Amino acid sequence: MTVEALRWQGDALELLDQRLLPDRISYVTCRDAVQVATAIRDMVVRGAPAIGCAAAFGIALDPKEASYEVLAKSRPTAVNLFWALERMRRARDKRAEAEAIFAEDLAVNRAIGANGAKLIPRGARILTYCNTGALATAGHGTALGVVRSARDKAISVIACETRPYLQGARLTAWECMQEAIPCTLITDNMAGYLMSRKEVDLVIVGADRIAANGDTANKIGTYTLAVLARRHGLPFYVAAPLSTFDAKIADGSLIPIEERPADEVTGYRGTRWAPEGVAVRNPAFDVTPAELITALVCEKGVVQAPDREKIRSLLD
Ligand code: MRU
Repeated sequence: MTVEALRWQGDALELLDQRLLPDRISYVTCRDAVQVATAIRDMVVRGAPAIGCAAAFGIALDPKEASYEVLAKSRPTAVNLFWALERMRRARDKRAEAEAIFAEDLAVNRAIGANGAKLIPRGARILTYCNTGALATAGHGTALGVVRSARDKAISVIACETRPYLQGARLTAWECMQEAIPCTLITDNMAGYLMSRKEVDLVIVGADRIAANGDTANKIGTYTLAVLARRHGLPFYVAAPLSTFDAKIADGSLIPIEERPADEVTGYRGTRWAPEGVAVRNPAFDVTPAELITALVCEKGVVQAPDREKIRSLLD
């Protein structure tokens, strides 16, 4: 992967503007915490681990008390953001800590990839959702990192487009094509049809926050895929670093879910297709109950049939 989502220059953070992909590669330069928070809120950078890394660099650039609050308010669901801010608060050398968070995320993703690859059969047709690749992390990726690590098994990817923000179509399909990983793009509502035709072997997704009982918040539409996977007897895997686990949240009903602007649903990039004034809902994430998750993959290994007990011992 030659394109990086985040580039730390010592006195500035450069963020690949993911809003412009796949058409244009352009970086936004941030020199203080307000600029980083704005970039997170406006989706210049997105994906739970990448948001955490960006927030850490935001503190490194601008280590004053108000920076923590402004960054904490940028997006509510991915717990990596709050995890990174807590780490930064405790650190004496803010720059070194931000660089460590970034470097560790890359190493952790490679470990997730190696652990997850063991679950992937040769020739598997892997359905995935949203973007969980190098663009969503410090590099390699979580769910898409598992795909990367399994690529010598002649796997192929089915990328759901991921309405309304199209992370699957714009980012995952692009990442796969950059690396010549075979990838077929579908609209989200085609997943059940392909499963019913036995054209999918497994589903793997990332996570934005995993509650203490294993309930998992991820991109809106993930829950639908988990239900479909269960209906069709397919494994449904969640790949995420330990920084995405939130032991303070007892179950998924307590995870804060971001509501995003209506214009993401009524149109795209200035083209509106819905009637003006129509009522709209736009929750950006949903919660998949632990009972629908075949296994969680993290840097420590694989947790089959996750539950409260297993997650407690994982986090000990
Ligand atoms: O709204 P986004 O694009 O930040 O949502 C991203 C996701 O839901 C990803 O699946 C999740 O952050 C895991 S990324 C490794």
